[in-house]
Amino acid sequence: MTMTTAATQSSDQTSTSQSVALHSVTYEIRTFGDPVLKAVAEPVVNIDEKLVRLTDEMFDVMYKAPGIGLAATQIGVQRQVFVYDIAEERKVILNPQIVESSGEWVYDEGCLSIPGLYVEMLRPKRILVRGINLDGNQVEFEADELLARLFQHEVDHLNGVLMFDRMTPDQRREAVTLYRAREGQPKDAEPYHLKLV
Ligand code: NI
Repeated sequence: MTMTTAATQSSDQTSTSQSVALHSVTYEIRTFGDPVLKAVAEPVVNIDEKLVRLTDEMFDVMYKAPGIGLAATQIGVQRQVFVYDIAEERKVILNPQIVESSGEWVYDEGCLSIPGLYVEMLRPKRILVRGINLDGNQVEFEADELLARLFQHEVDHLNGVLMFDRMTPDQRREAVTLYRAREGQPKDAEPYHLKLV
């Protein structure tokens, strides 16, 4: 997920590439239209060195983008893994499940796989998410507002669901048209914003 605030969008960055080469593997952020984004990720069974390395690489890709959350499916890896950082702390959740949700909250939501477009979307305000951490322990988080939104957005990715899939057909048509229009703009152009509520 990406944030709307200008603070996250430094114009001094010379690199516009969204790929990072590490350990001879190059991961690129997959964008809308790539079929990998529609696939449902497989649960993690073994927490091994390879998985830890994957999460390190996901952080690198996420920070470089820059974003505040990234699901493994977004770099073409079909595993139920997402990473996030909203308080200068690296966090990883494996096999996440949203077990409770309540309330409503509107947020101008962005996605690294849908660059240049923010959509004001209504979703539950508070959630309870359950998953596993990198030590293999079960973890449970109550989250509100931004963190709750981030969890919902990343869990959607792991289920092959994008923001566009949360819209009515009319909204989706409008959003995709706007996204396509923004695609033709320079990468550092102002993002487009769409209100659904
Ligand atoms: Ni996203």
